[in-house]
Amino acid sequence: MPVIAEKALNRKEFACSEGLRKRDGNDPAGGVKYSCEPKMQTRADQDRSRGVTRPDAREYRRVIGRFPTGVTVVTCCDPGGEPWGLTASSLTSVSLEPLFLLVCVGKGSRSHDVVVAGEHFAVNVLGADSVDLSNRFALADPGDRFEDVDYRTEVTGSPVLDRASAWLDCRIAQLHDAGDHTIVVGEVLGCDADESTEPLVYHAGTYRSLVPA
Ligand SMILES: Cc1cc2nc3c(=O)[nH]c(=O)nc-3n(C[C@H](O)[C@H](O)[C@H](O)COP(=O)(O)O)c2cc1C
Repeated sequence: MPVIAEKALNRKEFACSEGLRKRDGNDPAGGVKYSCEPKMQTRADQDRSRGVTRPDAREYRRVIGRFPTGVTVVTCCDPGGEPWGLTASSLTSVSLEPLFLLVCVGKGSRSHDVVVAGEHFAVNVLGADSVDLSNRFALADPGDRFEDVDYRTEVTGSPVLDRASAWLDCRIAQLHDAGDHTIVVGEVLGCDADESTEPLVYHAGTYRSLVPA
């Protein structure tokens, strides 16, 4: 039990580097007795004391990239009614009752505000023969992405690509703030698939196909 003799510390409690010190009575030697309640350790404190280094974004991307995903083009209409789309691999099925799926859209992208401002979007699942569409919807100027790309509308009015191996037409049901992305939850209002098409797979930063070479 530490004994603090300084008069200046003659308080009921005070914070110090080890935690919260509470006065425990007087010490026979004339000082004041304090007990120490260790301060709550934050995750960062625990990491430091264990010598653990947290991964940075580069390391995280390297590791999470080992999780293979499919590739989609998320489409919607911009405020002027023009078709808009971006490549997205963050598609996840969420719920069967109601029918919910999610995609994560980066806040730093031009697509973010267009997607979250709308009421609907469509998810176009790409097949193994559509690497060109994936690159186009990730890299080309947004105004050029639909050039020579055939599409139609189905339920919500969002563009559905003719070359998509599957499509899911959605109403935006929820938006969740998640770090540098927004999680967009869509209620599926219509969907269909061409079951003969092989999927396009994205793994460790590379497109892969399940079709044997
Ligand atoms: C395979 C692949 C998957 C991607 N997945 C996502 C995703 O899930 N969410 C996202 O916001 N961006 C994703 N991107 C990046 C966007 O496609 C790209 O950054 C976006 O189109 C930026 O353009 P914009 O600023 O015109 O919106 C992905 C890109 C590639 C090539």
